[in-house]
Parts: sequence; structure tokens; C-alpha cells
Amino acid sequence: MKILGIIGSPHKNGNTDILVSKVLQGIKSKNTVWGKIYLNDLNLIPCKACFKCSKNGKCILKDDFNSLLNKIRQADIIILGSPVYCETVTAQTKILIDRTDSSQVIVAKLKGKTILKRRTEWNTYNKRGIIICIGDLSPMKEIKQASSVMKRLFGDLNIKIVDEILARGLTKSGDVLKNSTLLNKAIKVGTKIT
Ligand SMILES: Cc1cc2nc3c(=O)[nH]c(=O)nc-3n(C[C@H](O)[C@H](O)[C@H](O)COP(=O)(O)O)c2cc1C
Repeated sequence: MKILGIIGSPHKNGNTDILVSKVLQGIKSKNTVWGKIYLNDLNLIPCKACFKCSKNGKCILKDDFNSLLNKIRQADIIILGSPVYCETVTAQTKILIDRTDSSQVIVAKLKGKTILKRRTEWNTYNKRGIIICIGDLSPMKEIKQASSVMKRLFGDLNIKIVDEILARGLTKSGDVLKNSTLLNKAIKVGTKIT
């Protein structure tokens, strides 16, 4: 089983990174290989809305997106983590979500309505996903709102969301280390994966 942790925070060893690592720790077994990717380390250009992808579901921009998508393609479990920035996900995470929309192909235009279809290869995979979305002062309603943006990525790629960790009250990077309930919850989410 291949597990991929994708960290949308610019902080290495920050709250998001720690929680992703705890889930990975919970999943870790002899049969698992896992890796972590920090979106901030990659060259990811924002979507230019050229709509070239609408023909074949492939993004033509030349950066790290296609190799990242290949890593997602190879993984069985994808853990996507982002802190809340200004009531939504971080810019790094949003670029990934927008660019992943390229997996949708325009199949028809009916009465001014565009009909989209997911690129067929993604329909054949049986992948599972976990969302981690955390913030500081935002009420849970806003954290949920940000996590629903993250759900779009999983929807576009036909990845079944099996668990979600949402939390608030994390002010400074590393604050999560003082929250043993949350750390244990993340480990438990990992151990549930078989
Ligand atoms: C630019 C910026 C905007 C933020 N906006 C919000 C916000 O709208 N709501 C919130 O609860 N926290 C907000 N935060 C706080 C982070 O979500 C919080 O500090 C989080 O724990 C950081 O996680 P990390 O350690 O993984 O980077 C913001 C932080 C930054 C830097």
C-alpha cells in the first residue's frame, strides 16, 4: 500500500505537517510505503484558464503539477492537509485544487450549459483520501468551509474520502504538540486504515 501525505502549509514541522505525520505513523506497517510532499517546495503555477485541458484532461503548463499528479496516481491513500488562511485553504493548496480540475473533460455544451466528465482513468482507481484542515480563531463553520474546498480535489480524482480531521485553536506552528487529544485522534485515523 502506498500512502502519500500532501502538506499545503509553508511550515515544515508546523501543525499541519505534524498531524499528517501522525496519521502516517498510525498507518505505518510492514506493507506500507509512504512519502510526504510539501507543496511549498514545488513549482506550481496558478491555473491560467487556457482550457486546453478540456479536450483531453491534461494540463499543458510546464511545472511540477504533472509529476505531482503522477505521484497521486501511484498512491492508494492520499492525505491532504492545509491550514485555514483567510477562511479558505492556503494558496499552495488552492493551486493544486484548481489545477486538478484539469482532469475534467468538456464532453458537450447543451443550451449554454457545459457538461463535464471526469477523465475516465480516474474512474477506474480505488483510492482513499483523508482531509486535515486546521485553523486558529475561525469558528468550526469556517474550517468546514475550507475543508469543503479540499473535497473538490478528491471529487475530481474519484478519491473516496474516508476520514477528516478538523481543528481550531492552533495559533503558533507547533501548538498541536500541546494537544494530545488531537495527536491521538490523528494516529487513530491512521490505524483505522487497512
Ligand atoms: C496569512 C494567514 C491567514 C490566516 N487566516 C486564518 C483564518 O482565516 N482562520 C484561522 O482560523 N486561522 C488563520 N490563520 C492561522 C493558521 O491557520 C494557523 O496558525 C495554523 O495553525 C497554521 O498551521 P501550520 O503550522 O501548519 O502552518 C492564518 C494564518 C496566516 C499566516
